[in-house]
Amino acid sequence: CREFNVVVLGAGGVGKSCLTAQFVHNEWIESYDPTIEDSYRTQRAVDGRQVMLEILDTAGTEQFGGCHSAFKFPFASLTPSKVAMRDLYMKTGQGFLLVFSIASRTSFEELETLRDDIIRIKDDEDIPIVIVGNKADLEDQRAVDRAKAFSLSQRWSAPYYEASARTRTNVDEAFIDLCRQMLRR
Ligand code: GTP
Ligand code: MG
Repeated sequence: CREFNVVVLGAGGVGKSCLTAQFVHNEWIESYDPTIEDSYRTQRAVDGRQVMLEILDTAGTEQFGGCHSAFKFPFASLTPSKVAMRDLYMKTGQGFLLVFSIASRTSFEELETLRDDIIRIKDDEDIPIVIVGNKADLEDQRAVDRAKAFSLSQRWSAPYYEASARTRTNVDEAFIDLCRQMLRR
């Protein structure tokens, strides 16, 4: 049984915790409780091989002084310990789920910085990444074109899934795709 560290990253409120809760516990969480940091262990069969996943559900990126809140709170949110914490989990992560909400353009734009940081910290261009456009059930509030997300996916050679934690659409598919990428390494 191989063990992998998976890190779920993305802006605040995009649904990282809900996706993780659906994948790990098959449960839907309606309320919003901002995450500090949670981790979950779960074992899965992927193409007949057992994998043990340690999934780290992180805090929304702006809590780390991401580009948007950085203007509002120049220094308060970017404390040295938070930067160190992020560097540490990026270093130990072997696969990354980069999540945005299809209803939020800024959450999509934040992915670029996240991937740059991962590549810089891991010093590896081919790190397993899956891009997740969550809240696909909110089609009427769509702010990110499918085509735009697909072009990012091609540029990064990373698969793109439109998912919904609410309807449990493409949740397993996204995590399992990431497992397949990690198993290939
Ligand atoms: P932080 O921990 O603050 O970074 O947020 P998060 O990314 O973990 O978001 P979370 O999973 O807590 O979800 C935020 C809110 O969005 C909650 O009220 C969820 O119920 C809602 N939500 C999450 N996923 C979906 C989804 O697929 N569709 C819809 N309609 N709402 C969702
Ligand atoms: Mg959360």
